[in-house]
Amino acid sequence: MPIPDEFIQELKQRVDIAEVISSYVKLKKQGRNLIGRCPFPDHQDSSPSFSVVRENGYFHCFGCQAGGDVITFIRKMENLDYVEAVRFLAQRAGMTVPEDDTANSMSKLRTRIYEANREAARFYHKMLYTPDGEQALSYLRGRQLSEKTIVHFGLGYSPRSCYELVNHLRKKGFTNAELIQANLAVQRGQGGVRDRFSDRVMFPIIDVRRNVIGFGGRIMSDIKPKYLNTSDTPAFNKSRNLFALNFAKDHAKGQLILVEGYMDVIALHQAGFENAVATLGTALTPEQSKIIKRYAEEVIICYDADQAGQKATARAIPLLRTAGLQVRVLTVPNGKDPDEFIKSYGEQGPGRFRMLLEKSGNDAEYRLQKLREKYNLEITEQRIAFLTDAARLIAGFDNSIEQDIYISQLAGELGVEKAAIRQQVSRIQRINSKEDYKRQQREIQKNLSAVSDNINREKASNLRAANAEEALIAVMMIYPSAADRVFRSLPPERFVTSFNRKVYETIRKRAQEGHDYSLTDISGEFSVEEVSRIAKILASHPRENNPEQAAGDYIRILEEEASRLTPEEIAKADNDMLLQCINKLKEKKK
Ligand code: CTP
Ligand code: MN
Repeated sequence: MPIPDEFIQELKQRVDIAEVISSYVKLKKQGRNLIGRCPFPDHQDSSPSFSVVRENGYFHCFGCQAGGDVITFIRKMENLDYVEAVRFLAQRAGMTVPEDDTANSMSKLRTRIYEANREAARFYHKMLYTPDGEQALSYLRGRQLSEKTIVHFGLGYSPRSCYELVNHLRKKGFTNAELIQANLAVQRGQGGVRDRFSDRVMFPIIDVRRNVIGFGGRIMSDIKPKYLNTSDTPAFNKSRNLFALNFAKDHAKGQLILVEGYMDVIALHQAGFENAVATLGTALTPEQSKIIKRYAEEVIICYDADQAGQKATARAIPLLRTAGLQVRVLTVPNGKDPDEFIKSYGEQGPGRFRMLLEKSGNDAEYRLQKLREKYNLEITEQRIAFLTDAARLIAGFDNSIEQDIYISQLAGELGVEKAAIRQQVSRIQRINSKEDYKRQQREIQKNLSAVSDNINREKASNLRAANAEEALIAVMMIYPSAADRVFRSLPPERFVTSFNRKVYETIRKRAQEGHDYSLTDISGEFSVEEVSRIAKILASHPRENNPEQAAGDYIRILEEEASRLTPEEIAKADNDMLLQCINKLKEKKK
């Protein structure tokens, strides 16, 4: 509902802009104006460039050119939208923002809930320092939270007895109905109520207007559920709020870190990363993404390294991008969550995390930008060249989520299908890993050159073909989905070395008869030495991103090799035959 104009006018008249601004920055009188250093965080004002004209109700900064009325000031300073800023100022001036009747009673209830929550938060916090709360306090200290952090986040303890909070709040004048509406209490039998949270460490959830809107409560043992959160109430909506945004908004500088848990946020803030926020026990929502966009241009997702975390990352990325945010992904090494990571390095923790942060995509972003500058993207040829170079760069990232981010970004920027770029990247990756593999093979080969290959005696004189055969066998056995086409199109005669041919024949026959052909399935048909040889083939093969395409490449190598004569054949061959072979090879090259 829009706020009536008259109300805004009255608010502006009642609120003294100089007084409001003075609570953020020291102002000195200079002539008709008041001047001071610009308080906005994005402007490092060294000389006092910020001036306030009290009578006219506006401010202006000669340094950063920001200016406007008191509402504009609060919007910018507190990172609020227009209506929120009006409410913020109204609250300060003791005015009630007019709303229609139902909205009004709803807003009254909401206000009561805020008050009850605030009182509850105070109560829980105080409990920490009573004998009942001793265990909770030592739990928090055990998790290496400092006294300052515990106070800063207003952490607390909900006592085991299920009536203490209810009794306390009833004494303060709250009704049972209000406590139930706030989800601080739940109905118990006839007319009675009891505390919702009991024997848990309490994390108050505070919105950007500094209202306590709900709580998360963590159990201190392994009992499930680990966390109990406030259910949605008239004052609390899980999908439209973020934990610690009240603090993070003032430290964002265009960037927020999105983590999974309350403890991660708190550990990060304590370590100096005060721009971290978390969702409230649910997956990221589109609303939350839009809220993040209000405070930042860029998000660094830093979820747990486990599978669930990776999945959540993949789901969050498109939501954040849709909201217009740049996304970077930080993967914490060794399967740790950010909290554990920071702690595991003691004093070095914050520094190490800073390094991860800076590395997360930043480097990539930077290199991509550098690359972009080399080309004139207006010209088609140069666009293609840029794309090729960029694909090579992206192929070097070892985080596939990160790859995906930049592929999407490039696709959007250059108007090219995402799939096309992805294919290009996979191709380069395959070549890279094949080159690594070849290098390794050469190394191994060198070391083993003296030792003869007892299993595959033909390999030494047909190295290229034998390697392709082994790679093909590995691809087919590791990625059976890529094998069907090979079985249909590649006759066993194409295999140059007889051992590899036997392996191929065996798996092909089993496949055609509808049987599986894993190593265990086929081991009966080979000697122990042969089985261990096949195992080695499988183990030393690199990972394939696109096994179908890889299989195709290996088959091509086999075809090329088949049209090449062995040294003995060359010695025996007549001129016509040689010419024929050379022409065939030339044709393949085209
Ligand atoms: N969560 C929840 N309910 C649960 C488990 C988790 O609401 N039963 C939410 C909480 O917001 C929690 C977040 O999911 O903070 C991440 O869960 P998890 O990683 O398990 O917890 P941490 O915050 O890392 O807490 P801790 O380190 O104490 O285990
Ligand atoms: Mn954790």
